Amino acid sequence: MRPYDRETILQGIDTKWAGKTVHFAREVDSTNLWIKRLFQEGAEEGTLAVAEFQSAGRGRLGRSWQSPEGTSVMMSLLLKPDLPPSCASMLTLVMGLSVAQAVEEMGICVTIKWPNDVVASRRKLCGILTEMAVDGEHIRYLVIGVGLNVNTRAFPKDVADKATSLYLETGRMTDRSAVPGRVMAAFERNYESFQRTRDLSLLKEEYQRLLANMNRPVRILDPRGEKDGIARGISPLGELLVELPGGELLAVNSGEVSVRGLYSYV
Ligand code: BTN
Repeated sequence: MRPYDRETILQGIDTKWAGKTVHFAREVDSTNLWIKRLFQEGAEEGTLAVAEFQSAGRGRLGRSWQSPEGTSVMMSLLLKPDLPPSCASMLTLVMGLSVAQAVEEMGICVTIKWPNDVVASRRKLCGILTEMAVDGEHIRYLVIGVGLNVNTRAFPKDVADKATSLYLETGRMTDRSAVPGRVMAAFERNYESFQRTRDLSLLKEEYQRLLANMNRPVRILDPRGEKDGIARGISPLGELLVELPGGELLAVNSGEVSVRGLYSYV
C-alpha cells in the first residue's frame, strides 16, 4: 500500500483547480476548521486540506465525527463562489454526487441518501458537512468537508448497523491516497456544469440515477409535523420532491428538514 501523505495524494490529482494545492496533516482539530484558517491566510479557491486524524471532527447538526487513524479519507475543499448563501446547499449535493461517482468508478455500487450521504448496502459510507462565511448577501467562502469510510474494519456498536466502509463492501483494502484525486476530478467536472446554470439542472438526471430514495416511501421530519410520501426526484434547486398521499408534490429544502426512509435509515 502506498503511503498516505501529501506527495502521494498530489500524484493522483489531475485537475485544473480543484485540489491543485493540498495541505496534509497527521493530526488536526477538524479539516473544516483548518480550511477556514487557511482562507484567513489567503488560500486560493480549490485548496484542499487532508488529515490522517481529527481530534475535533465535526458532523452535521452539531454532532461530532470520529474516525480512527489510518482508516478513512477526511478532507475539506475551499470554494469562493460568486453566489448568494441560499445556493450553498446545492453545492453540498454536488459534492455528494461527486463522491458517489468517484466510488462507483472504483467498482463499488453506491447510492445517495438525499441530500448528501453516500450509501452502500443501505448503510452510510460518507458524510458531508458544508459550512460558510457570509458577507451580507454574498458567500465569502464555502468549505465542503468529506468524511469517507475507506479501510474501517468495524464500527462502534451504536453505529454498526448504520455505517459501512469500502473495506466492508469489498473485503479488500483501498489505497486511500488515490481517493482525493478521484473525488476532485468528479467535483471539478460537476461544479463546472453547476456554474453554467447556477443550479442542478444539468446534474439532476445523474443525481436521480444515484438517488437511493427515488420512488420510495420517505418521512419528512418537519418539527411542525411529520409527513409521509414518495420521493419523486429533486428540483433544479436540489429540493427533494415528495408526492403526498393526496397527489400534491412537496419541495423539501435540506436546510430546513431531514428525511428518513420509512423502513430503514435510507
Ligand atoms: C455528517 O454528519 O454526515 C457529516 C460528516 C462530515 C465529516 C467530515 S470529515 C472532514 C471534514 N472535517 C470535519 O470536521 N467534518 C468533515
